[in-house]
Amino acid sequence: MKKENYFPISKTIIKKLIKEAKRAREMAYAPYSKFKVGAAVLADNNNIFTGCNVENVSYGLTICAERIAISKAISEGCKKIKAIAVIADTKEPVSPCGACRQFIMEFNPDTLVIMGTLDRKIHTTTIKELLPYNFKF
Ligand code: THU
Repeated sequence: MKKENYFPISKTIIKKLIKEAKRAREMAYAPYSKFKVGAAVLADNNNIFTGCNVENVSYGLTICAERIAISKAISEGCKKIKAIAVIADTKEPVSPCGACRQFIMEFNPDTLVIMGTLDRKIHTTTIKELLPYNFKF
């Protein structure tokens, strides 16, 4: 891995991201699916930005928690992200959807992806692992 793409992320920060993603999940607007998702992004300036899913009566307009959290970071001037935590009330750690994978990839192919359940099951990987052969031109 190229040195400039490598960001060591401590266990303390990972725990904080999970905590913030859980907190954000409470804000989810999911009256249609009833499936609440929370996300927390660690940005290049070490600030944390959170997001939750926001659904719409016109279902296709729904925005995932991950894309909201990333958009908050980028719209506040961050250029890259280092890590993203995603939390839902599932048996096994929840994994970002395909659209979110492409969105995460845009802001750093080495992004650490932390997937978790409410009862503390955690799985970590990188976006490169989750999205091989990502779209580019
Ligand atoms: N959802 C997310 O927030 N993130 C994902 O990666 C996949 C799905 C949301 C969208 C919708 O509100 C609900 O989960 C059910 O699909």
